[in-house]
Amino acid sequence: MRWGGSSTASPISHAATPSPSIRSNALRDAGPDYWGRRVIEKHAGAAQLGELDYLLNSADDRAGALGFGLNQQPPAPRRKFNKTIELAKLQEIAEALMREEDVRTEEAAQVQDLMLIGTSMGGARPKAVVEDGDGLWIAKFNRPDDRWNNTRVERAMLELAKTCGISVATSRVETIGGKDVLLVKRFDREKTDKGYQRARMISGLTLLRAEEAAEMRDRWSYVLLAEELRRVVEEPKRDAPELFRRMVFNALISNIDDHPRNHAVIAKDRNWKLSPAYDLTPSPVIAQDRRDLAMDAGDHGRFANAKNLLSQRARFLLDEQEAGTIVSDMSERVRATWYDVVRAHGVSEKDAEIIRGAFLYEGFSR
Ligand SMILES: Nc1ncnc2c1ncn2[C@@H]1O[C@H](COP(=O)(O)OP(=O)(O)O)[C@@H](O)[C@H]1O
Ligand SMILES: [Mg+2]
Repeated sequence: MRWGGSSTASPISHAATPSPSIRSNALRDAGPDYWGRRVIEKHAGAAQLGELDYLLNSADDRAGALGFGLNQQPPAPRRKFNKTIELAKLQEIAEALMREEDVRTEEAAQVQDLMLIGTSMGGARPKAVVEDGDGLWIAKFNRPDDRWNNTRVERAMLELAKTCGISVATSRVETIGGKDVLLVKRFDREKTDKGYQRARMISGLTLLRAEEAAEMRDRWSYVLLAEELRRVVEEPKRDAPELFRRMVFNALISNIDDHPRNHAVIAKDRNWKLSPAYDLTPSPVIAQDRRDLAMDAGDHGRFANAKNLLSQRARFLLDEQEAGTIVSDMSERVRATWYDVVRAHGVSEKDAEIIRGAFLYEGFSR
């Protein structure tokens, strides 16, 4: 096993030595998650595998710079990737897997090999890693049981966040056989003459030294994450306010899936920084009085409410006026433009109505 990227860099450069929990949790970050595990289990024909099996069976294209193999030498970097033109086939396989069907084609094994590429990316939604002339992308497919066109809505949320001054992953939608696929450019791989340069990557969950289990979520907190960021990143004055903006944005669009694995820090060379934002999804919750983010946001816990978000603004290195301006400017922008932005990105009128309730619910400004 090796740490990739620059060989002279320490895993976390500003902190002295990474704690054992950061080390082992960084392994968890590099392992497949719900979707990848499912693909690997199908491929291996086994229902349950050990942690090491998942690591060794997933393709060496995982987020971040770690590689795993059985030899003393790390595996050679993967050079062959699925191409964007193979998306139709990948989509077909993903759908078969979602229906719990065996992939019944003549070249089943080969087809499943194709799908294994990308299994090491985390997350629950069906996805694959694909390549085009510009580099590597995460392809996210719609699910048959989605209540709205997730692909187009997620793409629109990335754009809306960008207009709110948030740094976001580059994305585009491709329509294949009448179905939309979201392509999100990988920010942890840079195309060079010699192949792909890997950036190191650590999830918010790992930075927080937290766990995913429900009973261990006491450390799930934007406030604590801001503190950890300030210790680790090269430019705390840039990244702590940026995290504040993301928290406010998530509250404004009721993104209640803003758990710590949907935040990350990356290091292309020595220095760490907050990664671009990704996985932004609105949730039209029915409750109007109170909605909760996935992480603590201030003195009143997870409450997605302006006063609560402002209550710990100093930890995000913002004075009262700066923080207040961010909240009011962003609220106004989301209120005035969300509808036009989603429609401009091809979200149907019907879907826009379904998600309407996600934006600026009443309890936000109570
Ligand atoms: N643009 C990206 N570049 C590199 N890694 C990414 C990118 N977007 C997401 N990831 C990684 O892939 C994981 C899964 O992606 P995500 O969009 O969160 O999928 P899901 O909707 O299934 O949760 C993330 O938790 C993160 O580790
Ligand atoms: Mg996610």
